[in-house]
Amino acid sequence: QVYKLKDYKPTDFVVERIDLTFELDPSETKVVSRVILHRREGVAADAALVFDGDELTLDSVQLDGNDIDPSLFDVDEESLTIRGLPESAPFEITVNTTLSPDTNTKLMGLYRTNGVYCTQCEAEGFRRITYFYDRPDVLAVYTVTIIAAKDDAKYLLSNGNFLGSGNYDEGRHFAAWFDPHPKPSYLFALVGGDLGLVEDTFTTMSGKEVALKIYVEHGKEGRAGYAMDALKRSMKWDEEVFGREYDLDIFQLVAVSDFNMGAMENKGLNVFNDKYVLADPETATDADYANIEAIIAHEYFHNWTGNRITCRDWFQLCLKEGLTVYRDHAFSADQRSAAVKRIAEIRLLKAHQFPEDAGPLAHPVRPETYKEINNFYTATVYEKGSEVVRMIRTILGADDFRKGMDLYFERHDGDASTIEDFLACFAEASGRDLKQFALWYSQAGTPSVSVSTDWNEAAKSFKVTLEQSLAPTPGQSRKALMHIPLAYGLILPDGSEFNGQPQGGEAGNGVFHLTKRKQTFSFTDVPGRPVLSINRGFSAPVNIAMEQSADDLAHIARHDSDGVSRWQALNEQAMRHLVAVSKLARDGRKLPAAKELAKILVDTAADESLEPAFRAQALALPAESDIAREIGSNIDPDAIHTAREAVLSEIATAGLAVFSKLADRAPTGPYSPAAEDAGLRALAGTALAYASIAEAEPVRAKAAFDASNNMTAMTQALQILVHQFPGSDEAEAALAAFKSRFAGDALALDKWYAIQAMAPGAGTSARVEALLESPDFDRKNPNRMRALIGSFSAGNPTGFNAPDGAGYRLLAREVIDIDKRNPQLAARLLTAMRSWRSFEPRRQKLARQALVSIREAGKLSPDVGDIIERMLAD
Ligand code: ARG
Ligand code: ZN
Repeated sequence: QVYKLKDYKPTDFVVERIDLTFELDPSETKVVSRVILHRREGVAADAALVFDGDELTLDSVQLDGNDIDPSLFDVDEESLTIRGLPESAPFEITVNTTLSPDTNTKLMGLYRTNGVYCTQCEAEGFRRITYFYDRPDVLAVYTVTIIAAKDDAKYLLSNGNFLGSGNYDEGRHFAAWFDPHPKPSYLFALVGGDLGLVEDTFTTMSGKEVALKIYVEHGKEGRAGYAMDALKRSMKWDEEVFGREYDLDIFQLVAVSDFNMGAMENKGLNVFNDKYVLADPETATDADYANIEAIIAHEYFHNWTGNRITCRDWFQLCLKEGLTVYRDHAFSADQRSAAVKRIAEIRLLKAHQFPEDAGPLAHPVRPETYKEINNFYTATVYEKGSEVVRMIRTILGADDFRKGMDLYFERHDGDASTIEDFLACFAEASGRDLKQFALWYSQAGTPSVSVSTDWNEAAKSFKVTLEQSLAPTPGQSRKALMHIPLAYGLILPDGSEFNGQPQGGEAGNGVFHLTKRKQTFSFTDVPGRPVLSINRGFSAPVNIAMEQSADDLAHIARHDSDGVSRWQALNEQAMRHLVAVSKLARDGRKLPAAKELAKILVDTAADESLEPAFRAQALALPAESDIAREIGSNIDPDAIHTAREAVLSEIATAGLAVFSKLADRAPTGPYSPAAEDAGLRALAGTALAYASIAEAEPVRAKAAFDASNNMTAMTQALQILVHQFPGSDEAEAALAAFKSRFAGDALALDKWYAIQAMAPGAGTSARVEALLESPDFDRKNPNRMRALIGSFSAGNPTGFNAPDGAGYRLLAREVIDIDKRNPQLAARLLTAMRSWRSFEPRRQKLARQALVSIREAGKLSPDVGDIIERMLAD
């Protein structure tokens, strides 16, 4: 079935309230749902009520307390239809269903993970709990009563405020919750289990005290401190920056170990993948801490952007996701180095969203059609969606942006809204027409902007010509011209910046507004030949095509007032060289030296005036997958690997003295996850990798591994050993030591699996096959599957794309197998092959065979079926 944006229609009946009662049992949970409804004005008197349902056992259904005559209702695979309902008076429908949480392997609806009952309802999981209008525009007030055996579920949690609890006989108890804020079903949550509890409080800006509770597995309480701290900082930040206050007496968060995604913003009861809650220095890396901070903030910020204002339909998913990612980015930028944070965002966007936009799975930020909504929780909806909000801020300026946000909160509080509603607030607050800009929501693909400059020495004039284009994407052959805001700077020979305003188009506050196909901006009275720094800070998510000399890039890298632009220039220089060398390697030609690049990178490494985290980012060469994306077609991953290794080795040799010093400069003293220390560790780890390359010896990394007293340093060293010195005694000894030290610690062991899965080279698929068979490998745990299969297929270009096709076959076989239990996870893992058409012909053929083998494997889930179909469409 295909769903279309243009077919939106409100429901025939309006839900007033819903009361749910759960009697929890591992295999026979009883759910009673009482819903008060009335017929919407203008709806025909004979229109039937159609509720959604999925894999439910219906026990009975009543109207105002009386069993409904079987001739008046029908149940099928996906719905419950009831006829003969009152014409205008409100009525009550009671639905009784039975569920089996223990056998719910899809992890949607009500399931059990490590003995804990929990729910995941977004996008369409509530229909796996009871028959209901499972769509985001049906808002209702929920009352929930949960009954369970005390020794089966000590805590009984749901959304909203706590009403009360009590005991029954035979060791059973109950708890009741009331959520006063009308919400859609996807925000419903229930948790029941014996958990450890960490408590704190937060006092809001109006002086209300909120109880904060984080529930984790027993024994892990000590790892919840950072999450609690991040939560309190998020609550404060949203008050200060967006004027948003929390609106219940209590905020609860539960960490579970089997979860399909990162986390879920259920009203007042967030449920998290424990990977994004639990942290201590021994088991979590700096990256884990940063992710925890960002995701805690993200889910908390959804309380306003998502919950108080939700989406009219799932086409509007970016309304809450893009905006909330934008908000969590702004939060992290404020908590850490803004430039370093932005660099990480740019890397992530280019690594995940650009390939999506360039391949068969491309779709607009707001899709207009879908078959399976779970397949649209994508980098495009989330990350590009955030970039679009960021561009609105760039175009409007900080003040009007805030005014627009205030208006949005004021006008749409309690609504199920659309992108049009959202944009109208900014248009109104700023007096700007955003019609052309709105194309960012409807046109898929990454625009290209070609840039050329012209300096006239005699006239002291400088011209910048910009030309935009947007390639066709699936379903969109013709594209309209976009409004592209390109931040820029003109850097003069002495390193200062030219401040004159250009003619030729709108260009206020250092931003060219490219709105036509081609525009020339002319500057006059420029004292000397300037160097153009374009798309500063990555103001627009576009590809820039520009001939810029290495000297000009170096000038930007040295003088740009914006740190992100300095990194962009360095990265561009590295990328160009790597692309050129990779192409030579593919053609079997001799590889040129990288002297200049090596010098500038070693100088950057040694430059003590620069932040360590920035230096680490500068030294991290574009990944093999980045180079592949840049090359675009006829990709040979082995050639890219060879070329990149050669460049790495040249840099390493040139800078050995610098790197060996920096490798020992990790912070001493007790571990702190704060950004400065993390930056030092990042630089030390990068330096250790370079020094090990130059020395071609595992000794230094093994010593670092043995001496490490935190997970960041430990995994840095382990990765160097396993990736650079595979099969060495040192690598095998480190792997064994890691494994025995963290036996039984699933999150730490995930790192052990991931590092091995990403070891370069065609031999890795055999290693992955062996690891799949190890006794502690749990195929049902999504984190474990992502750590091994996901890291291998999405994070190991030479291993996964091995020339014999073994990697593709491995993934195809696992996807077919996982699909039987957990379609969402299977579909997600399969997207690793989205760029299969960009490889050289031999690999393309093998990739196609693997994809076809999935298509022909028998009954596929809608999730995997949809991805396969789009990936194989011509
Ligand atoms: N709304 C969640 C978040 O971004 C993601 C949940 C997605 N779940 C899913 N089953 N598709 O915070
Ligand atoms: Zn979200």
